[in-house]
Amino acid sequence: MPQTIAVLDFGSQYTQVIARRIRECQVYSKIYHYTTKPEQLQADGVVGIILSGGPSSVFSKKAPIPDRGIFELGVPVLGICYGIQLFGHLLGGKAAKSDHREYGHGTLTIKKPGRLFAGLPKKLRVWNSHGDKVIELPPGFKAIGTTENSPFAAIEDIKRNFYGIQFHPEVFHSEHGVDVIRNFLVGVCGAKQEWTTKDFIAHAVKEIRAKVGKSRVILGLSGGVDSSVAAALIHKAIGKQLTCVFVDNGLLRKGEREAVIDLYQKHFHIDLRVADSGKLFLKKLKGVSDPEQKRKIIGRTFVEVFEKSLKSIGKAEFLAQGTLYPDVIESVAIGNNPAALIKSHHNVGGLPERMKLKLLEPLRELFKDEVRQVGSALGLPREVVWRQPFPGPGLGVRVLGAISADQLEILRNADAILQEEMMESGWYWKVWQSFCVFLPVKSVGVVGDERNYSYVIAVRVVESIDAMTADWTRLPYDLLQKISSRITNEVRGVSRVVLDISSKPPATIEWE
Ligand code: XMP
Repeated sequence: MPQTIAVLDFGSQYTQVIARRIRECQVYSKIYHYTTKPEQLQADGVVGIILSGGPSSVFSKKAPIPDRGIFELGVPVLGICYGIQLFGHLLGGKAAKSDHREYGHGTLTIKKPGRLFAGLPKKLRVWNSHGDKVIELPPGFKAIGTTENSPFAAIEDIKRNFYGIQFHPEVFHSEHGVDVIRNFLVGVCGAKQEWTTKDFIAHAVKEIRAKVGKSRVILGLSGGVDSSVAAALIHKAIGKQLTCVFVDNGLLRKGEREAVIDLYQKHFHIDLRVADSGKLFLKKLKGVSDPEQKRKIIGRTFVEVFEKSLKSIGKAEFLAQGTLYPDVIESVAIGNNPAALIKSHHNVGGLPERMKLKLLEPLRELFKDEVRQVGSALGLPREVVWRQPFPGPGLGVRVLGAISADQLEILRNADAILQEEMMESGWYWKVWQSFCVFLPVKSVGVVGDERNYSYVIAVRVVESIDAMTADWTRLPYDLLQKISSRITNEVRGVSRVVLDISSKPPATIEWE
């Protein structure tokens, strides 16, 4: 059993982020409900405990209070935010409601570095979000850091190895936050930094096997990073008990279906079923020009096709999904961001209940960059692991207005040239997304001596961190020139290529 750091969850929105930072320090951690019994922690080989923050006040009647026995285990404890109030409240000090609720940035002045702040600057910009503060130290504690509003913003009991900090070291906005966490893990708890991606995989494989037993698992493979990594991981765990379903909705890019078959069937020998349903999607989309309507139809048809494929596979007990941690928050927090709908779209909402399937989500606690590391370690190629995002409705929202098979074909060919040039020049890996959009307008061109009226292709290449904002990428003119002349020369039906130079906001990344 690896050395385990227990993160006791008091309902903080950042609990998973704490776990992530611990993984960044290459230490294994497990999140426990705040009521977990000390005996359980002991049995699990816990070498340190972190009390997460939480939205409650220790003064509230419903305040989550842990078993006091956790303070008797003889292992170091770090209380974050709500966690420090618990020290004040439970160990004989005093917490009080603060006159100034501290939210956002503050400056922590370190009075005594000790082991927690070893090697760090004297002043740190830190991120706070709380309403209570410690006003009287419990016996054995000393203040080691202060803020404008609190003389006890960081405290330690050097004998028992108890530390409390009012700020959130786990969030990106806290300077040296991860160093504070590392100091606690390594300097205070003596944890060894040896938990790697390989260990994660071995651990996940064990858990999947234990959960699934001899049952059959179905996974909807989209070809995107998350479902691909989930497929490779689950396949490693249970081999032939996994069946993947890939829905070819006729809105894919050139060569995509073949690439998926090549990788999963031929390379990984995964039981892959391809649902060839391009015609059905096109039939349902006929004459529909409203983008939201198109999305709905594509989503509904996807579920229909997927469900039918499941029936043909036979009895399964689990539906696997490549849900990541940010999907879990986003789907709650950011209601109308289309990116947040990705999962509800692909994750065939309602299906698990209807088909009486249990969910298997082995990546649920990971962040995107960690999923990529897992994917690489599982042997997935760079093209899959670092693939640009591609919307569920695919080229369906990139042929503007009503969709025809001819227009799709034009777009597919133009887009393939763009991707080829982006890959060839190395720009594909540097940008967030690069794609073509089919504009259903005709403009005049000359071929030989003849004037003809053909369609327009827009090239959209953007940089972004999270798709919430984006800027257009300044590609070199030579590259743009090559893309444009190849598209107009090689794709019949296109006479003009334009470049989209709008940022988000006010424009969006996709055109529809
Ligand atoms: P926008 O166009 O809103 O896109 O700036 C933000 C990100 O979300 C992707 N996107 C979608 N993904 N289904 C998806 O799965 C959709 O309907 C959808 N619409 C936009 C888009 O490609 C970008 O990465």
